[in-house]
Amino acid sequence: MGVRRGWKRRLALWAVAGFAALAGPMREPPGAVACAAAVGSALFLLLFALGIRQLLKQRRPAGFPPGPRGLPFIGNICSLAASAELPHVYMRKQSQVYGEIFSLDLGGISAVVLNGYDVVKECLVHQSEIFADRPCLPLFMKMTKMGGLLNARYGRGWVDHRRLAVNSFRYFGYGQKSFESKILEETKFFIDVIETYKGRPFDFKQLITNAVSNITNLIIFGERFTYEDTDFQHMIELFSENVELAASASVFLYNAFPWIGILPFGKHQQLFRNAAVVYDFLSRLIEKASINRKPQSPQHFVDSYLDEMDQGKNDPLSTFSKENLIFSVGELIIAGTETTTNVLRWAILLMALYPNIQGEDSFDDLR
Ligand code: HEM
Repeated sequence: MGVRRGWKRRLALWAVAGFAALAGPMREPPGAVACAAAVGSALFLLLFALGIRQLLKQRRPAGFPPGPRGLPFIGNICSLAASAELPHVYMRKQSQVYGEIFSLDLGGISAVVLNGYDVVKECLVHQSEIFADRPCLPLFMKMTKMGGLLNARYGRGWVDHRRLAVNSFRYFGYGQKSFESKILEETKFFIDVIETYKGRPFDFKQLITNAVSNITNLIIFGERFTYEDTDFQHMIELFSENVELAASASVFLYNAFPWIGILPFGKHQQLFRNAAVVYDFLSRLIEKASINRKPQSPQHFVDSYLDEMDQGKNDPLSTFSKENLIFSVGELIIAGTETTTNVLRWAILLMALYPNIQGEDSFDDLR
């Protein structure tokens, strides 16, 4: 009872303080009330200013692509999350209404969505320099401090890391004659597993993921991981889950209102937990891959990166670091694996649906 009375008294004090602040100094309030009045009105003003700022941020700038109207404060995040369809289906429907280029308001963060081969090519290929930068979203800041490879800001780190990645892929990968035989070797492991099912149905996803990631692993670590290596598979699963979580409504909300990060629950916390496990695992893989390293005689991407780190030791502006190495390795694995795996899964589905496109003739056409 005493506690409840205490709350009521405090509430009454706050209410009096609020009115006192609004009504002006009719009479000199006692010290505690004056203090509460000041804090109350400061809080009120702060919330008011933040609300106005958020609403202003949500205004669609002149000339910006059209898009569905959003709710105050959270914009279209709610529609994305509450829609009965998956986010990409919701977005495809919006593109039927607003065109191939439309915009969404992700809680004050303006996003432009491209839907169509020509517009994507125009943006990523013809205007690549304009779109090369990455937005400083709270999620990217927290995960990679805008470093690494995929999320690096357009600057020295961006250039250095892309140059090293492209050179490594050429030097240890597709630029080597022996690489084709290594891919064929992986294909043989892949087919061997399929044959164990003796025509029975099974889910291709895990197997394709393992096979595809192994091609990238050869370039990054100089070795493949067996399909029985559950630790590596678990790391990829967590990373894939993070790709999905990063596009979830809760994480969009975190990007719009980063103070949500103080809540000890939610999808953003799951994402941070997964990332910690993934980075720890990758750091151990990197250590293992560099055990027999001979400086300036690289055998794979990790060796080349460590050589760059050595060279940049006395350069305070060098962007090569242990932390960025871990981010880059993880990003290369996931960028190559998720995408290629999904393309192959779609291809297999289409071949199953249209058996007439299977067989030697179709592959000759592709060549
Ligand atoms: C069918 C397979 C693939 C698809 C559909 C695909 C798609 C994409 C897309 C849409 C981007 C974003 C481009 C941008 O924002 O500028 C991207 C970037 C990237 N992808 Fe792929 N990708 C595929 C395979 C791969 C593979 C095999 C690797 C390497 C192992 C890879 C590594 C990267 C990297 C490093 C980036 C960042 C490039 C940059 O920001 O400049 N991708 N990919």
